[in-house]
Order: sequence, then structure tokens, then C-alpha cells
Amino acid sequence: MPKLSIIVAVADDLAIGKDNGLLCHIPGDLKRFKELTTGHTVIMGRKTLESLPNGPLPNRRNIVITHHPETLPKGCVSAASLDDAIAKGAEDDEVFIIGGGQIYRQAIAKADMLYLTCIHSAFPDADTFFPEYNASDYDEVFCERHEPSEKCKYAFSFVNLKRK
Ligand SMILES: NC(=O)c1ccc[n+]([C@@H]2O[C@H](COP(=O)([O-])OP(=O)(O)OC[C@H]3O[C@@H](n4cnc5c(N)ncnc54)[C@H](OP(=O)(O)O)[C@@H]3O)[C@@H](O)[C@H]2O)c1
Repeated sequence: MPKLSIIVAVADDLAIGKDNGLLCHIPGDLKRFKELTTGHTVIMGRKTLESLPNGPLPNRRNIVITHHPETLPKGCVSAASLDDAIAKGAEDDEVFIIGGGQIYRQAIAKADMLYLTCIHSAFPDADTFFPEYNASDYDEVFCERHEPSEKCKYAFSFVNLKRK
């Protein structure tokens, strides 16, 4: 089985999205997302696919979980459930669950690794959230804090958690 990893940008209150978009633009987060996921399989819910500005992500195998596979654009592999998606990604050495809220909720108990971008802000208008998880189930194997800068007004931390 491949390593199953979740990657998410999550605010301190677990908010992850609003109006089927991200909460904010953090260039460093997008760069890290691209570096980690390129060349791998990414698994997402249909709404997250719809939130991507240019459709399926290039240079990655895009597996989309949906009840309506006939609606997916070219460049996507459909899956009828999370388990079906994981089975379809089984040839990869690392598979990334890239959201959104519904899919993270189904995947959190199965994930070996969490790649978090923790945004140290509150987003009171958010409508989509990451599930509660127990930090003591994981070892923190990486943590790097970034203070607000000209490029990004938010303080954030890259935190990698590996299941014990
Ligand atoms: N901060 C981050 O890192 C991050 C990352 C990704 C997404 N997001 C945000 O999250 C939000 C979207 O999340 P969401 O929770 O609304 O939607 P989602 O999880 O992206 O997708 C939900 C859809 O997935 C399909 N689905 C879910 N479970 C299924 C199952 N067991 N079997 C078959 N199909 C299933 C259904 O599609 P059908 O209706 O087609 O059947 C469902 O409507 C957006 O705001 C997005 O920007 C944030």
C-alpha cells in the first residue's frame, strides 16, 4: 500500500475554506504544495476539483471522488469512494489527499502523514473545516514558522505530523 498523506492549509480554528475557495493566498504554501505533490497521485472531492482555477492539477494523477463520474472533465480519474480512490492510487509510493472538508473527514483516520500549513489567523466567515484530530496520535517531525512579510500578511507554520 502507498503511504497515505493529507496535505492542507488550516487555520488555528480548523477553518479551511469559504464559498468553495481557499481562505487566503499564501505563496509559500502553494509552492510547498506543488513541490510535495508533483509526480504523485492526488485524491480530492468533486467540489475541490471545481474550486481549482485551471482544472485538474498538471503533472499529477488526479483522482476525483464523486457520485457523478460522467460530469468530470478530461484528465481526471473518477472514484466512487475514498477506498476506491486509494485502490486506484495503489501503484504510487505516496498518495496525497488534497481535500476538501468531506474528504478530509473520511481520510483522517487512515492517513499516515499530515502536511499542515497552519495559518495563525481566525477566519470567522469560513464554511468548511478540517476534522478534529488528536495531536498525541502523531510525532511532529518538522516545524518551520514564517512571520508576516511583504509577500504574505499572515503568520503561518509548516508542520509535518507522522502517525506514531
Ligand atoms: N485549505 C485547504 O488546504 C483546502 C484544500 C482543499 C479544499 N479546500 C476547500 O474545501 C472546500 C471544499 O470542500 P467540501 O467539503 O465542500 O467538498 P469536497 O470534500 O471537496 O467534495 C465533496 C464532494 O465529494 C464527493 N464525495 C464526498 N464523499 C463521497 C463519497 N463517500 N462517495 C462519493 N462521492 C463523495 C461528492 O461529490 P458529488 O456531489 O459530485 O457526488 C461531494 O459533493 C472549498 O472551500 C475548498 O477551497 C481547502
